[in-house]
Amino acid sequence: MNAPTEAQTLDMLQTAPAGAAALSRPTPGAPMWLLAELTYRCPLHCVFCSNPTDYAAHSAELSTEDWLRVFREARAMGAVQLGLSGGEPLLRDDLELLVAEARKLGFYINLITSGIGLTEKRAASLKEAGLDHIQLSFQDSTKELNDFLSSTRTFDHKNKVAAIIKAQGYPMVLNCVMHRYNLPHVGRIIEMAERMGAEFLELANTQYYGWAWHNRAALMPSHAELIAAEEVVDSHRARLAGRMKILWVSPDYYDAKVKPCMAGWGAVFMVIAPDGVALPCHSARMLPGFDFPKVTEHSIASIWRDSDAFNRYRGTGWMSETCLSCDEHPKDFGGCRCQAFLVTGSAEATDPVCPKSPDRHRIDAAITAADQAAGLSTPQPLRFVPGAAQGGGMLFRTDANSRALVAPDSGEVEFAAPEGAG
Ligand code: FES
Repeated sequence: MNAPTEAQTLDMLQTAPAGAAALSRPTPGAPMWLLAELTYRCPLHCVFCSNPTDYAAHSAELSTEDWLRVFREARAMGAVQLGLSGGEPLLRDDLELLVAEARKLGFYINLITSGIGLTEKRAASLKEAGLDHIQLSFQDSTKELNDFLSSTRTFDHKNKVAAIIKAQGYPMVLNCVMHRYNLPHVGRIIEMAERMGAEFLELANTQYYGWAWHNRAALMPSHAELIAAEEVVDSHRARLAGRMKILWVSPDYYDAKVKPCMAGWGAVFMVIAPDGVALPCHSARMLPGFDFPKVTEHSIASIWRDSDAFNRYRGTGWMSETCLSCDEHPKDFGGCRCQAFLVTGSAEATDPVCPKSPDRHRIDAAITAADQAAGLSTPQPLRFVPGAAQGGGMLFRTDANSRALVAPDSGEVEFAAPEGAG
């Protein structure tokens, strides 16, 4: 599963209620962007997956009827965009039915997929059901690195899926999560997207949540590597103007500015996890001290308007003096609560990427470490070997590792691809 794209976040920002953050506890507008994580099941094992690392402890899934009720209630509240994500949403047998009903309700529907399971027949039936848009993820332009990072042999299949998407006439967004290993390939990734006829390429630099947080030391590029890659992007962007739009999502850690995460907590965005837990963002599940409401126990309206989970970081009442006294807070809404928690141990803290944060030194230390690591040799290409310990010292998203992270006594986390994968 990928986090909401920059384009999607920009959409949200453009439609966010004006001046929402100016009030200490504003009346919420509509949950305009609904992300339905249909399942945590996924055939891939990506080292930067944004699903919670304890996903194996939440394997229950909402029924078709539950999802349809969620869609109806959210639409009645003003939701307009529906992202169908996971895990791998194509693993749900009722995907076509969910799309058809969402279409009848009037949603704009985006499928966020690894492509595994998207056959010609399925792409056609999803189109007939009313799917608007497909976002296909790639891990790299090379088979070796793509297959290594996802710990599956999927590169060739993804190429076939890209052709299927084009043949069916869908607008195609390719998404590639960028990091130390594939930044040197950025020019080839752009050329690959161009060959495939993508209308839009999102180069999303890794944000460190979920599995990527555990793999931060291995994935984080140096500043010089980022700058070099961005220059390549700029040159291709000029060449491809009018043909393919390239979005370069700059990494938080290197930005001098705090990002307006989710366009503000509980402002426009609602995630429903596979088991029906409602979240203000895709990462919030790991925040301590929350009792996130379930759609099986509460209506979408009461979750959105009345729950502590959605109200806690709305507006400015929760902000530290550092944020309150800063001119930027009406624009950045205080930044990212999940990042604050992961880096500082407190979700209330000033976003540590902010230059005014008393914890900024923690980000600088990570950057220094990445700069030093860039001086060491990085094995390229990394190759996927089923069942074998993988290079790079990375933690793969597997059920066994998820269980071990939840209950450390249940077994060792393994820096290895799953037995028989691929
Ligand atoms: Fe949770 Fe930013 S990802 S608030």
